[in-house]
Amino acid sequence: MTDRVRIVEVGPRDGLQNESTPIPLEAKLDYIARLVAAGLREIEATSFVSPRAIPQLADADDLLPRVLAAPWAAGVRFPVLVPNERGMARAEAAGADALAVFTAASDAFTERNIGMSVEASLAAFAPVLLRANRLGWWRRGYVSTAFGCPYTGAVPAGRVVEVALRLLELGVEEVCFGDTIGVGVPAQVTALTRAATAAGIPLERIAFHFHDTRGTALANVVAALDAGVRTFDSSTGGTGGCPYAPGAAGNLATEDLVYLLDASGIEHGVDLGGVLDAARAIAAALGRPLASKVGQAGGWDPASGAPVGRA
Ligand code: COA
Ligand code: ZN
Repeated sequence: MTDRVRIVEVGPRDGLQNESTPIPLEAKLDYIARLVAAGLREIEATSFVSPRAIPQLADADDLLPRVLAAPWAAGVRFPVLVPNERGMARAEAAGADALAVFTAASDAFTERNIGMSVEASLAAFAPVLLRANRLGWWRRGYVSTAFGCPYTGAVPAGRVVEVALRLLELGVEEVCFGDTIGVGVPAQVTALTRAATAAGIPLERIAFHFHDTRGTALANVVAALDAGVRTFDSSTGGTGGCPYAPGAAGNLATEDLVYLLDASGIEHGVDLGGVLDAARAIAAALGRPLASKVGQAGGWDPASGAPVGRA
């Protein structure tokens, strides 16, 4: 198992989907270009969902081809969120070659988020994943509400693993456990990772998506690192959350994650100054200050003791 960490940037999708201020396509492109310049190599670009459900990402059909045609796009994976065959057709037409499907560990959540039960969502993904597999696309499956559901409360790790196994059977290469409402703590992360590996899921195929809603995201990252997981989602600027999860503001900020990894001597390939630059660009587009800790304080140079990259 490598010690290198993979950071999957979800700012352009998860970070923006909940924002009511419409961000122009050019500003999204500029943000994504800055993320690439910062060294991020996996960037969830947008969603091919119903534009009525997520108006902010209604420009996906125009945005993705622009991203993929950009000179800076080479060597970067840009997965897109796809909920159904209609979304798959749009993603294909736009030139995608990587996708994520998304379900949850609790029916109450999927009913409100995508209007179907967990079982029905898996049935909807089956043809999508089959086609993506045939086309040779990279494929990820999200299991949301992995640590708790806003409608039904505690979620047993066994249930989360059961849904992950179904997604793997349907052909995803990686499962991503999402703490949609930011209620998880390190002991739960350890328990879920153990339950998943005990069920036969290799550590290389597990990713975590933490929200910092209650300030536990980085502690959860450390627990996951200790358990052997090396793939983490984060959103530059700490934007985002799920519109169907009340109070779920705040993805783990990429700058906070990068600071922790840098100071811990863990390799990841992303430059903190570049991330802060992208964070400032998207905060300006949204017209608000940065939500992240490192966005406010800056990084820190142990040679001089001075903060670095502060706005
Ligand atoms: N792309 C564009 N439009 C789509 C679509 C897609 N992938 N899937 C469905 N639609 C349209 C339908 O054409 C229909 O449009 P109309 O009302 O103008 O005829 C409308 O959306 C409703 O379609 P329906 O099949 O009845 O689905 P639904 O209303 O049950 O919605 C989803 C199901 C999954 C499409 C919708 O809930 C959705 O896109 N959710 C996304 C949620 C999300 O992204 N959450 C963030 C992740 S946490
Ligand atoms: Zn999120």
